[in-house]
Amino acid sequence: MSWLSYLDDEAARREAEGLHRELRPRDSDDGLVDLAGNDYLGLSRHPEVLAAAASALKAYGLGATSSRLVRGSTPVHTELEAALAEHLGCEAALVYSSGYLANLGAVRAVVRPGTLIASDAHVHASLVDGCRLARTDGTSTVVVSHADPVALDAALGEGRGARPCVAITESVFSVDGDLAPLADLHSVVRRHGAILLVDEAHAVGVIGPAGAGGVVAAGLAGAPDVVVTATLSKALGAAGGVVAGPASLIRHLVETGRTFIYDTAVPPAVAAGAHAALALLRGAAGDAARAELASRAADARTALRRAGFEMAAPAGAVLSVPAPGPETAVRWAAACRAKGVAVGCFRPPSTPDKGSRLRLTLNAGVPRADFDRALEIIVAEAPRPST
Ligand SMILES: Cc1ncc(COP(=O)(O)O)c(C=O)c1O
Repeated sequence: MSWLSYLDDEAARREAEGLHRELRPRDSDDGLVDLAGNDYLGLSRHPEVLAAAASALKAYGLGATSSRLVRGSTPVHTELEAALAEHLGCEAALVYSSGYLANLGAVRAVVRPGTLIASDAHVHASLVDGCRLARTDGTSTVVVSHADPVALDAALGEGRGARPCVAITESVFSVDGDLAPLADLHSVVRRHGAILLVDEAHAVGVIGPAGAGGVVAAGLAGAPDVVVTATLSKALGAAGGVVAGPASLIRHLVETGRTFIYDTAVPPAVAAGAHAALALLRGAAGDAARAELASRAADARTALRRAGFEMAAPAGAVLSVPAPGPETAVRWAAACRAKGVAVGCFRPPSTPDKGSRLRLTLNAGVPRADFDRALEIIVAEAPRPST
């Protein structure tokens, strides 16, 4: 069989299983109420964000043109890193061109030969891939049951004190929107002399004091055994990623991290926009948006429970609504779209439990009346038991 026939067969299999994916066109203003993107605070189009980006665009041009080690590190990048380090309560921070690359780099940097990695069963693909890449270095990874400090304790115990250990988790989980028990996980990690790596992609800007995330909220900011990663592409409305932690870690990443060294830097215009977004996110407007998100999350959960859905309490701005199967989830999302509402449709392999669901990601910039109408549509279009 030729390789293209193989690819076509695989596509046919995905189609038969209701798991195919396709790109849909998107206009600059498609008129949809957005409950699918990750622009949690509505900052991606904020005038101050756009003005900061436009000014850096004029000064530096469209792209960074190289890695920062090759062509130099702009003040736009270094000032953003200082602001991120302060916001996350860490000694230092390093910005990457994506959150995915930040996670690959972070996992690689916290392992040494022989390290035992204990990774939560629900972590994002970028962390899973980080563990896979790190495996080349004589490390091994065990997947531990979700948000379970007891399971983590048992997994790290397998190292018997003889191996360096790392635990990996998200704070607000990306698919189900629940919160990791960070303080308890950290107690376990500390008892084992391990390191805790926390991906705050869906937490920064959304939870914690001034939107500083789950690590700050749990009182763990600046701990020498905690490493934070995040993306600039969600609440900050930009693109890029960040690793934050002890200064020695950041120096190590600059000098040895392949996903930093061999990758063109995040464009200065994007970094400048992210910095402006960070300033807004930390201020009074950010607090107001977070309060609005919390109120909408609670209302959405109530409405969906009333409609018969099993809904966990959302920790941030991500809600997971179970669907009976992948085809039904696709039809439900399409019906919502046809009525003017964009929702996320998550199916295997993007779900941790092989189930399917709609993922609603809230956006404080969406007018409240539109949000309320969107909720009604989601409930009205929900699959009936026979569908
Ligand atoms: C939990 C989590 N980590 C990392 C990433 C990757 O971030 P980026 O999109 O900036 O590459 C995402 C989402 O895309 C995510 O949801």
